Amino acid sequence: MRSYVTKMAGVTTLPPREEREAALAEAGYNVFNLDSENVFVDLLTDSGTGTMSDAQWAAMLEGDEAYAGSDSFDRLQAAVQDVMGFEQVVPTHQGRGAENVLYGTLVSEGDHVLNNTHFDTTRAHVAANGGVAVDCPVDSAESADEGNSFDGNFSVERAREHVDDVGADAVPVVVLTITNNSNAGQPVSVENTRAVREFADEIDATFVIDACRFAENAYFVREREGRSPSDGASDEAPSREPGYEDASIQAIAREQLGLADAVVMSGKKDGIANIGGFAAMRDPDLFEHCKQRAILYEGFPTYGGMAGRDLAALAVGLREAVELPYLEHRIGQVRELAGLLRDAEIPIVEPVGGHAVYVDAGAFFPAIPSTEFPGQALVCELYREGGVRAVELGSFAFPDTDRPEYVRLALPRRTYHREHIEHVAETVEAVFERRDEVSGYEIVDEPPIEELRHFSARLEPV
Ligand code: F0G
Repeated sequence: MRSYVTKMAGVTTLPPREEREAALAEAGYNVFNLDSENVFVDLLTDSGTGTMSDAQWAAMLEGDEAYAGSDSFDRLQAAVQDVMGFEQVVPTHQGRGAENVLYGTLVSEGDHVLNNTHFDTTRAHVAANGGVAVDCPVDSAESADEGNSFDGNFSVERAREHVDDVGADAVPVVVLTITNNSNAGQPVSVENTRAVREFADEIDATFVIDACRFAENAYFVREREGRSPSDGASDEAPSREPGYEDASIQAIAREQLGLADAVVMSGKKDGIANIGGFAAMRDPDLFEHCKQRAILYEGFPTYGGMAGRDLAALAVGLREAVELPYLEHRIGQVRELAGLLRDAEIPIVEPVGGHAVYVDAGAFFPAIPSTEFPGQALVCELYREGGVRAVELGSFAFPDTDRPEYVRLALPRRTYHREHIEHVAETVEAVFERRDEVSGYEIVDEPPIEELRHFSARLEPV
């Protein structure tokens, strides 16, 4: 068993209820507009919000700030090679920088990019290069409760149908996002990764893994009894993904990532860093092209938008992220929160994924129609009730789609304690008890780009 001791204390305060009420109104009922000093437990994201280890802080002091040939870059490159199996690394300021470098190189006007489910920034980068982003989730991914163990998987069947429609030449890139953030943080099996590899070979496409949460995914592969959703055998006894129960996280990660031609990585997730990212690839030509694009957008290829000290912290964080006791603690915390919510009969997405608990706000507030944003109503109530900040990932964040009305409670890495988790569960429960009194919201001030409205739109209760 592993736990963490605090070496540096940060203060968090729950403002009085009247102040929370005033702050929420001032924020236009959009928690992105809140000052963090008014937030008691911040579950907006697990990205860049984790707590670095003493070893990471020590590495920062040794950061080499040389413009070119930085020793800190060498350390990052060695970590990427050891942990993820890629030698050619292009550092970037964060994950979307890596997406710009890689997809800007691989995707052209009219191309189609297939992904299990595109994360928002991935979709935006495909679109920015004139491409069409196509999601190919497995069927079980569409329902919250069918209980398939690898609900994040990529449906090769759907992908094939799409290729039959548009032709293989139109699909230069196939992406697998592990874990599948836009689908409740659900994992992807190695078996499915292998099937995607074969599919990419069939259509002669570059196979990219979005590896933001690759270590959490490897934990699920190691642990989870899973049925392959593609075999349609949902009533059969669950079987383990063969051969992984005794493997190390690093070995699983190396095997899974070893199937890809390239990875994009946000160091803010499973790099346990506050900033940073990289793209890595096997093909020397692709590496050269990406480096050139990186010089334009990110910086010289041995720092890429990061300070030397940030490269150094990320190099250490990547190695820590594949330690089994770290992952047991990390995923254990997410499950602890899920367990408390389950006991209180709160509708959550099951099985619980890697970095967050997703509450089904549609089931939580059945009387609030999606046009009045039940997820946003829950987000506002969680802040009002307990100073907890969550994020809506339903019809407010994704206009004109029929996504479920999820609210994500994302846990920062190594940051909160049991008392915070209990506070969050008690807050959700208190709102659940008075759910009949809660009303929906309408947008009163909408920014020009509809897809980005949830970051800054202002709302009013209906
Ligand atoms: N890919 C995935 C799967 C992500 O979850 C994210 C970020 C990115 C790419 C982009 O990385 O933020 O470093 O530029 N997800 C964060 C979140 C923002 O809250 O889920 P980035």
